[in-house]
Amino acid sequence: MSVMTDLERICPDPELRASLEIGLAQVETALHEAVQGDYPFATHAATHLLDAGGKRFRPLLTLLAAHLGPAPMHPNVIKAATVVELTHLATLYHDDVMDEATLRRGAPSANAKWDNTIAILTGDFLFARASDILADLGPEAVRIQARTFERLVTGQIRETIGPEDGEDPIKHHLQVLADKTGSLIATSAKFGAMMAGAGYDTIDAVTRYGEAIGIAFQLSDDIVDIAAAQQESGKLPGTDLREGVTTLAALHVIDSQDPADAELRSYLAGPITDEDELARALTLIRVHPGLDEARAESIRWAEDARRELRPLPSSSTVHSLETLCDYAARRSG
Ligand code: IPE
Ligand code: IPE
Ligand code: MG
Ligand code: MG
Repeated sequence: MSVMTDLERICPDPELRASLEIGLAQVETALHEAVQGDYPFATHAATHLLDAGGKRFRPLLTLLAAHLGPAPMHPNVIKAATVVELTHLATLYHDDVMDEATLRRGAPSANAKWDNTIAILTGDFLFARASDILADLGPEAVRIQARTFERLVTGQIRETIGPEDGEDPIKHHLQVLADKTGSLIATSAKFGAMMAGAGYDTIDAVTRYGEAIGIAFQLSDDIVDIAAAQQESGKLPGTDLREGVTTLAALHVIDSQDPADAELRSYLAGPITDEDELARALTLIRVHPGLDEARAESIRWAEDARRELRPLPSSSTVHSLETLCDYAARRSG
């Protein structure tokens, strides 16, 4: 699945859409150039997930945000969009090691196809390639990306460690989502506006928009893990339950005092190794009101994102950014 298939809905303005299509094609070319290294196997391993698919949500956001500035087709916009997708791709190689995931973008994950060492080092190779392009964008962009990446990894660490004693688990969870996913999506939008020469207030508004839509996007991803079929997500359903990763729906179940939830609560207490238990846990959580509460939370964050756009003058770019809010909150894959 790719944003290209939804582009007509996200961007009804044909002129803007044509420009986004050109930009996305340039990003594809730049991504393939970026993974060319001196050692053919590293290129091969990095190309594996690059070619497997992916929505290209972050580069689309960069390209769209760039249309808020006077130079939306500036070469640095394409470079920034390439950097954010390469960074994202690298985190997927690492994330699948952490989550012991076997399927990604409808293909075997790198850790399943090769092993953890290859997956980790290919992720590092991609970070190196991203940094090389980033250097062309200047020290301010390098610092923004460094701080984004710090937030992303501390979000992943915070998720792994869990809430501290006395810390509200839902508050902790939302902080994790903001850091591990909101950070890079916010920077994707920020880079677009920045590289296209938009003013400070516009850059600021679209960054806050990106952060909120990023949280909506991750909440949806966690719902997709429970509710979607493998063909829709390209990932193995139930990975979070299997790994004992506590998502918002799970937190609501854990919070519920209802004795009828006792069986599901026992599955959510930790990783699930038995396939029958996993299937049972998925069946139970799919019909639990906690899942609807998570959906409502995703929609709330998408509405927050939309609100951040209010100060911007109306345009087909702003309209597309608004439509992207529905896409992020209601997607099924
Ligand atoms: C998956 O991101 C990881 C999250 C942060 C939710 P995407 O859903 O954007 O993955 P691809 O790029 O489409 O494969
Ligand atoms: C991944 O979160 C977040 C980052 C890669 C930073 P998930 O673990 O939910 O992503 P998927 O479901 O594996 O794509
Ligand atoms: Mg994962
Ligand atoms: Mg997930």
